[in-house]
Amino acid sequence: MSDKIILTGIKPTGMPHIGNYLGVYRSLIELSQNHKTVAFIADLHALNTIHDPKIIKQHTYEAAAFILAMGLNTENAILFRQSDVDAIYKLNTFLMNVTPKGLMNRAHSYKAMLEKNAASGDDPDNGVNMGLYTYPILMSADILLYNSDIVPVGSDQKQHVEFARDIAEYFNKTYGNMFQLPEPQIGKDIGLIPGLDGRKMSKSYDNTIPLFATESELKKKIMRIVTDSKLPNEPKNPDESTIYLLYKQFATPGEAANMRELFQDGKIGYGDAKKMLFDTINTYLGGPREKYNYLMSHTDELDKILANGAAQATKIANKTIERVRRAMLG
Ligand code: TRP
Repeated sequence: MSDKIILTGIKPTGMPHIGNYLGVYRSLIELSQNHKTVAFIADLHALNTIHDPKIIKQHTYEAAAFILAMGLNTENAILFRQSDVDAIYKLNTFLMNVTPKGLMNRAHSYKAMLEKNAASGDDPDNGVNMGLYTYPILMSADILLYNSDIVPVGSDQKQHVEFARDIAEYFNKTYGNMFQLPEPQIGKDIGLIPGLDGRKMSKSYDNTIPLFATESELKKKIMRIVTDSKLPNEPKNPDESTIYLLYKQFATPGEAANMRELFQDGKIGYGDAKKMLFDTINTYLGGPREKYNYLMSHTDELDKILANGAAQATKIANKTIERVRRAMLG
């Protein structure tokens, strides 16, 4: 067991799809097998876009059931709801005061809003609430509160982890060495995860495969994968095929090499390749799907797990917050 602490926040915005899982959470779950892991459902981060408490609550359960079903190692990991640990609101307030406004102006997601407003001729601040604007401060508070060493994230979140380092450095410069600097860990290059239409799998393209679709939904989705019109006996380039690219993520290396050859030698048609893909994903996700469905129909068990996690997280967080309070307020 390494003594490094791994941390991640999962924003509760709806059922994750296969692309999300492969991009970030698979490596987090692997790391949790032999590292102390702090994992929380970042419900406070959802507040700037979701203003319906019922939806946030539902998505929070889904996110917790998801990470448990996929195999987060609960011996090494604590799992909790971000909003259940009071110290987070405190550290957020403290960090506000060492964070330059200019740093927030550079945040990608804020800049994307400005650009969108400029393109449509709207006021630059249209649709920008302070939750969005200060999002990176809250995320820095998450990262620094639990003394994390490694933060596995997708490349879209890398800037946020770098901001956490910057903010930690501003703090340390003013108040002495308090925070260690966290490292972002961008998942090993797994290549593009294509969606059903061959473009990157993304909710905004409506081309995703949901992780916990029923068996028949999963089959339907996979059968809808777009292919060219090559015949079964024509050689095909596996690296241009959505079917193969998805298959190699779930198959063993031997199985992947086998499908590669079948494609290259013109020994398989797309229909049969889709069947192989379905069987492999369905086997991979069968156990997790059952566990997910069980947890979603026993949310009292999720409540217990989350409450237990919050109690443990509070102990760690309160220690940090006491040190910060003393450093800043005397
Ligand atoms: N911002 C992250 C996302 O959108 C979620 C998140 C919140 C997070 N706090 C975090 C991720 C701390 C890593 C570390 O997915």
